[in-house]
Amino acid sequence: MRRLGHHRLQHPKQGGGLKNMMGRLSIAVVVLLICTVSLLLSFSSTSTKADSRSAAYRSQINIEELWRSADFGGWKPSSAPRSDWPPPPALSESNGYLRVRCNGGLNQQRSAICNAVLAARIMNATLVLPELDSNSFWHDDSGFYGIYDVEHFISTLRFDVRIVEHIPEIRKNGKTKKIKAFQIRPPRDAPISWYTTDALEKMKEHGAIYLTPFSHRLAEEIDNPEYQRLRCRVNYHALRFKPHIMKLSQSIVDKLRSQGHFMSIHLRFEMDMLAFAGCLDIFTPKEQGILKKYRKENFAPKVLNYGERRAIGKCPLTPEEVGLILHAMGFDNSTRIYLAAGELFGGDRFMKPFRTLFPHLENHSSVEHTDELVGNTRGLLGSAVDYMVCLLSDIFMPTYDGPSNFANNLLGHRLYYGFRTTIRPDRKALAPIFIDWENGRRAGFDEAVRHVMLKTNFGGPHKRVPPESIYTNSWPECFCQTSPQNPADKCPPDDVLQILSGRLKSETTDDLKPLTPLNLTVSEAER
Ligand SMILES: *[C@@H]1O[C@H](CO)[C@@H](O)[C@H](O)[C@H]1NC(C)=O
Ligand SMILES: *[C@@H]1O[C@H](CO)[C@@H](O)[C@H](O)[C@H]1NC(C)=O
Ligand SMILES: *[C@@H]1O[C@H](CO)[C@@H](O)[C@H](O)[C@H]1NC(C)=O
Ligand SMILES: *[C@@H]1O[C@H](CO)[C@@H](O)[C@H](O)[C@H]1NC(C)=O
Repeated sequence: MRRLGHHRLQHPKQGGGLKNMMGRLSIAVVVLLICTVSLLLSFSSTSTKADSRSAAYRSQINIEELWRSADFGGWKPSSAPRSDWPPPPALSESNGYLRVRCNGGLNQQRSAICNAVLAARIMNATLVLPELDSNSFWHDDSGFYGIYDVEHFISTLRFDVRIVEHIPEIRKNGKTKKIKAFQIRPPRDAPISWYTTDALEKMKEHGAIYLTPFSHRLAEEIDNPEYQRLRCRVNYHALRFKPHIMKLSQSIVDKLRSQGHFMSIHLRFEMDMLAFAGCLDIFTPKEQGILKKYRKENFAPKVLNYGERRAIGKCPLTPEEVGLILHAMGFDNSTRIYLAAGELFGGDRFMKPFRTLFPHLENHSSVEHTDELVGNTRGLLGSAVDYMVCLLSDIFMPTYDGPSNFANNLLGHRLYYGFRTTIRPDRKALAPIFIDWENGRRAGFDEAVRHVMLKTNFGGPHKRVPPESIYTNSWPECFCQTSPQNPADKCPPDDVLQILSGRLKSETTDDLKPLTPLNLTVSEAER
């Protein structure tokens, strides 16, 4: 089942021998390597049995194997540059300042931040710390400082892009003056060429530009693996939640894990998603009224026929369906499940059948009773904690991966953190089986569900097929192999740290702070 995809990327030509290549690697590798090496150490011990999985899965689902991560075909996460990667331009040579406003929820903003760093790199610009929209849905205005570790972000990326917290004032003819950023609304999924022409021209003219809104404003498929790796460095190394969020998440994970392994489920049975999907028939007339109203106020009008939507897998799974899938796969009622989601719509009527099958249910407020979380379960803090717990859980199961940035980012992050198991139900293939079940045709139900699930991918590397996003699947760009068929996939040698520390000493200049050692207390939580 976990099949290796085939390469379709053209790798850049790599001239010269290994020594030559090593010589050209930038110091950034050190920072990344420390992260990656500690990461590898953390999961290499759990992945020894990995290879038996693929063969064993063809005919049956082995739950015990699913609880473990897989090391697949020698692939490891690695987003250090593999070819020449010059340092960013000095402030005096920068083309100007890039300001962006990232809109959307926590996870949409996360990929926008990655895009902003890449855009600044492409433009040889100085990035102003991205602004995070305080969004009416989240009732949160804590911004970048409230969620992410700013110092870690800036220092991790200092060999990629210069980042400042504000546009500094300039002195001209004895007066201090503010540079006013020229506001532009970038085209959706703009190609790199838009940044190096239109946007750059305005930047040079005004000294600074302000791109707003800035979600999905840079094409995801870019024919340059170094650029994709920069996105991974931002996403998986530079963006770290603030220490109190990491601590809270770690505490929840520790409590859950003290009783053995656990699964996390993003139970996307929430009002906004149900209204978006337009799957109304299972609700009471009153509930339908609420969903219709929400839909009218928030989404473009569209005729949505429940039967048709359902048949093609466009409806989020109900909690009961999620329970039935897990039960059919062989998970029993001792399975501990962490539920990540906001308030479930429709109340206990929908949760009850699920709880009957799986009584050991937890969420962040049931595990950790801190005032901080109680007051902010729906806000960015609750979402960030859920993100971390889902990242660290042994198995993750999204129930709706359409426009859910939370689920999509986690799929990518868990892949990068060592091919951690994900269960991704194929809703379209399951729909007829559920419809039969509802109509009383229940014979062979479990068998049919298992048959569908056996064909899914449980989190191993697989070929990315657009519209699947780089943020959901960064294989193969952000992975390497020790003994690769393609030289461009080769991992840095084991002694790369020593080679590079030598270089680091000779190249560190006065305006660069010494590397801050990784805070192991915090990075522990990232495993
Ligand atoms: C950015 O700088 C590099 C040299 O470091 C140069 O090759 C590239 O053309 C520059 N790009 C832009 C858009 O200025
Ligand atoms: C590391 O992180 C922990 C927990 O967040 C914090 O208490 C500690 O002060 C940090 N240590 C350093 C050296 O930054
Ligand atoms: C779990 O299922 C077993 C039968 O398979 C049953 O005996 C037991 O009572 C169930 N436990 C709970 C907590 O529901
Ligand atoms: C978390 O679980 C508790 C107890 O099961 C429940 O009362 C509460 O509503 C849940 N919170 C959320 C945000 O789902």
